[in-house]
Amino acid sequence: MLDAYRLKTDFPILQTNMNGKSLVFLDSAASSQKPFQVIDALDKYYKEENANIHRGVYYLSQKATELFERTRIKISEFIGAKCAKVIIFTRNTTESINLVAQSWGRQNINRGDVIVLTELEHHSNIVPWQMLAQEKGAVIKYIPINPDSSLDTTNINEIIDYRTKIVAVSQMSNVTGTIHDIKPLIAKAHSVGALFLLDGAQGACHIETNVRELDVDFYAFSAHKMLGPTGVGVLYGKEEILEKMPPWMGGGDMISDVSLDKSTYADLPARLEAGTPHISGVIAFRHAIEYLEKVGLENIHQHEVALTEYALERLDSLNGITLYGVNDLQKRGGVVSFNVNGVHAHDVGSILDEEGIAIRVGHHCAQPFMKKMKIAGTCRASFYLYNTKEDIDALINGLLQVKEIFARVVKR
Ligand code: ALA
Repeated sequence: MLDAYRLKTDFPILQTNMNGKSLVFLDSAASSQKPFQVIDALDKYYKEENANIHRGVYYLSQKATELFERTRIKISEFIGAKCAKVIIFTRNTTESINLVAQSWGRQNINRGDVIVLTELEHHSNIVPWQMLAQEKGAVIKYIPINPDSSLDTTNINEIIDYRTKIVAVSQMSNVTGTIHDIKPLIAKAHSVGALFLLDGAQGACHIETNVRELDVDFYAFSAHKMLGPTGVGVLYGKEEILEKMPPWMGGGDMISDVSLDKSTYADLPARLEAGTPHISGVIAFRHAIEYLEKVGLENIHQHEVALTEYALERLDSLNGITLYGVNDLQKRGGVVSFNVNGVHAHDVGSILDEEGIAIRVGHHCAQPFMKKMKIAGTCRASFYLYNTKEDIDALINGLLQVKEIFARVVKR
C-alpha cells in the first residue's frame, strides 16, 4: 500500500492554505496536483534546455528534441504500445477525440453509419461525434445506463450491429467513478467490424492499461489528470489505422514537401502533429509517469478504493444525502458524487470552499447523465494518491456545517 502522508509532501500546493485554512484538495478528477519532480522539470527546461524541437542542428534544439521524444517512448511503454510512433501528442483528451472524429471519422463515416456512445460520457466524447454525425448524416446510438450508473447492455445486439463504425466509451466515469466493463464491448465492436475508442481521461491516471492486451483501436488521455502539466494530451492508435489517417491540422513539422500548389505529408507521428507543441509540458510529463510508476498504479487504485469505501460509509451515516454510483467498490474509482437533499450543489461547494475544501459541483460536463437522473448537478469529491482519511473527515465536517446552515431545508 502507498503512504499518502509521505507522498503529500511531494506536492507543494498541498502544503498551502486556502481561505485561511489548510487546503483539502478533492478535485483531482478535474485536474491533479503536481509533484515537485514535475514542477522542477518544467523549471529546468526553461532555465537550461529551451529550444524548438525537430528543427535545429544546434545542441540545445537537439537536446530538447531528445527529451521530447523520450516522453513519447515512455508513454508507449506505459500503455503497452508496439512502438513510439503510434503515440500522437495533442493538447488534451478532447483534442485527441476530435482528431479521431475529424481525421479518421471524416474519411470513414458516411450517411446512415452508426456511432455508438454511452449515456455516461463526458461532453468531450459526445460533441465531437455529434458534429461529425451532423456533417455526414450519420446516426449516434447510446448504450443506456441503469439507475446506479452501470451500463445496461441488455439490448447491446440492437445497438451495436453491422451499421456501427465506431464505439467510443469512457474507461471510468468522471461523474460517478464507475469503471466500465469494456472487454465485452470491445469484442462486440470488433465482431461487427467497428473500431473501439477508449476515453482514458479518468482511466490512464488510475488503472493499469495495456492497449494491446485490451485490443483498443484508439486510446485518448490527458497529462494534467495524471500529475503532468496542462496542455498535453495523447492519442494512441493502432499503426495500420493511424497510417491511413489524413492530417487534420496543417502547418509546420507535419509536411514532407511544400510547393505553392500542393504539399505532401510527413510520416507518423509528425503528420498528425502540426506546429510547435507544448515542449516543456511533454518533457515534464515523463517525470509524472515515472512518479506514477514508482508508486504503482495498482497501489493507487487500491488506495482510492479504500478512500472511497471510507467516504461512502461516512456520507451514508449523515442523514439527508443522496449518493450516486455503483455499490461494488472494485467497479469504481476514487470519485464520490452526492447531493445534500434540498440544497443546491453550488451552495454546498461555496460553504466547503470557505473551509479550504475544494470539490467540483455542477453537471461535470455530463449533462445527458444529469438529465437522465433528473437532477441539475451533483457535488463531486475525487481522490488521488495524495489524499488521506483526514481529507474525507474534513469534507464530512464541512457537510455537517452545510446541514446546520440549511437545517430548515435539508430533506431527510
Ligand atoms: N473532465 C474534468 C472533470 O470531470 C474537467 O472535472
